[in-house]
Amino acid sequence: MSGLFITIEGPDGAGKSSVVKRLVKAIQEATTKPLIVTREPGGSEIAERIRDILLDPIHTVMDDRTEALLLAAGRRQHVVEKINPALERGDIVLCDRFVDSSIAYQGQARGIGIEEVKAINEFAIEGLRPDLTIYLDVDAQVGLNRIKDKSSNRTQDRLELEEVAFHEEVRRGYLALIKAEPSRFVTVDASQSEEKVFNEVWEIVKEKL
Ligand code: TMP
Repeated sequence: MSGLFITIEGPDGAGKSSVVKRLVKAIQEATTKPLIVTREPGGSEIAERIRDILLDPIHTVMDDRTEALLLAAGRRQHVVEKINPALERGDIVLCDRFVDSSIAYQGQARGIGIEEVKAINEFAIEGLRPDLTIYLDVDAQVGLNRIKDKSSNRTQDRLELEEVAFHEEVRRGYLALIKAEPSRFVTVDASQSEEKVFNEVWEIVKEKL
C-alpha cells in the first residue's frame, strides 16, 4: 500500500475534533494528494449504524464483550470499504480513532484485557497499522469537564457518561500502548491552547506528507 494512514487518538475531551478540522485544511493546502477524512466508530454506512447502537445511552444492558465485538465489526467494514481502497490508491487517510481506542477503552478501561481486544481486532484489520498516530494527552477530569461544557446543548453518549475512574483507566491504557510501541506514536499535550496543540500536531504531520 502506498498511501499514508494517520490516526488521531485520545481520551474524551482531548480536542480531537477541532484538531482534525484544522488538519484537513492544512493538509489540503500543503498537498494535492487526495485526502480521506473518516472516523471510528463509524466511517461507512454500516459502521455508522453500529455506532448509533454503541453510543445510544439507552443501551445500559450492553455487555462489555458485545461492545468490543460491535466496535471490531464496524471497524472491519470500515477498513474493507473505505480505508484499504484509499490506501491502495495512494491517498492520505486521516482517521479520528482506530484500534488503539478499543485497546484503551475496552481492553484497559472495561477490563476485558489488552491481548483479548488486540486479538479480535487483528481478525478485523488483518495487519493494517497506521503510519503515524497522534495521541492527544489530557487528564481525565479535564477532558470530562470540557465535554460537560460542550454538551450543555446535546446529550452525552453512553461512553462519555462513564465515571472519571473509567476515563483515567482509558488514559492509562493509551500510555501503556505508547510505551510498548513508541515509534508509531507522537504525544501532544492537549491541555494547552487549541492553537498550540494544532501547531505541534501540524509540525509532525507536515514531515510525513
Ligand atoms: P468519539 O467521541 O471520538 O466520536 O468516540 C465515541 C466514543 O466511542 C468515545 O467515548 C470513545 C469510544 N470508543 C471506544 O470505546 N472504542 C473504540 O474502539 C472507539 C473507536 C471509540
